[in-house]
Amino acid sequence: MTGVTRAQVEAARSDPKQANVLYHDWESQTYDEKWSISYDERCITYAAERFVTIAGRAGWPYAHALELGCGTGFFLLNLMQAGVIARGSVSDISPGMVAAALRNAQGLGLAVDGRVADAELIPYDDGSFDLVVGHAFLHHLPDVEQSLRETLRVLKPGGRFVFAGEPTKWGDKVARRLGQATWWACTRVTRLPGLQEWRRPQTELDESSEAAALEAVVDQHTFVPADLRRMALAAGAVDVDVRTEELTAAWFGWPVRTFEAAVPAGKLGFGWANFAYRAWLRLSALDGRVLSRVVPAGLFYNALVTGVKPHPPMPLVR
Ligand SMILES: C[S@@+](CC[C@H](N)C(=O)[O-])C[C@H]1O[C@@H](n2cnc3c(N)ncnc32)[C@H](O)[C@@H]1O
Repeated sequence: MTGVTRAQVEAARSDPKQANVLYHDWESQTYDEKWSISYDERCITYAAERFVTIAGRAGWPYAHALELGCGTGFFLLNLMQAGVIARGSVSDISPGMVAAALRNAQGLGLAVDGRVADAELIPYDDGSFDLVVGHAFLHHLPDVEQSLRETLRVLKPGGRFVFAGEPTKWGDKVARRLGQATWWACTRVTRLPGLQEWRRPQTELDESSEAAALEAVVDQHTFVPADLRRMALAAGAVDVDVRTEELTAAWFGWPVRTFEAAVPAGKLGFGWANFAYRAWLRLSALDGRVLSRVVPAGLFYNALVTGVKPHPPMPLVR
């Protein structure tokens, strides 16, 4: 990992929060490219559809929203562009990610402010926001329920949280096995004569292995949908809903992403990206329209959770 010393990596192995800062600061430089994140119609639609799936369209635009674990701003910035949110604040434990999200917001001409913040101890006053959003960050937190309590604290009464993109226990197990098998196959096959131009330089492969060691610390949880619901209720939320999505789309998507990471950057080109995206869209439609009716929710890859901060009880009038 460029710019990160071995001593820092060793120290971070026993400290999940430090591991997250180190790993995601490093990732922030190439994150959008690695995960094919964009701020155009493709990702605006993706973000808005995740929101509608779990929380519908009522209340748009939310006047002021906070994003936890914002990364480069993928969820909040695209929700702003979709008209879900009027004003936004981004936060992340990684200073590199907050800087990247603010740069992206500025590039899009969106009025967004940001803070470095631990989602378990949110540095905003009680009742500051109408909406709190997050995508693929809860599974990095040592204490998820504490973060849900903090989320409710910074929401106004009646305010909503929407967290999407969290790995389920079974979905993650299958996706990881498929990803590992793809990596194993790619790194062996590209040693064969005539195929070496498809092999990433050894320094980059070594860097990926080092990053994978930190990933084991960074990824703290996978979720059973019922547990996610129980934690949201225990934190004090009402109107809690949990849904899952992506079955065959995840079985296709994880090997594809692993393959893309295993071959030299730029080798696959636009034709491949287009094929992969179209195939993923078709499989997502199959998952949503057909398989979600017959396959148990816990087997799908992505979990989404929403809940509302209750209004305080009316005082008793004698
Ligand atoms: C997988 S990335 C997702 C980023 C972005 N939300 C997205 O979907 O593209 C997880 C993010 O959570 C952040 N994170 C990890 N632990 C955190 C914590 N305790 N508090 C706040 N953010 C945290 C990481 O720094 C990272 O940016």
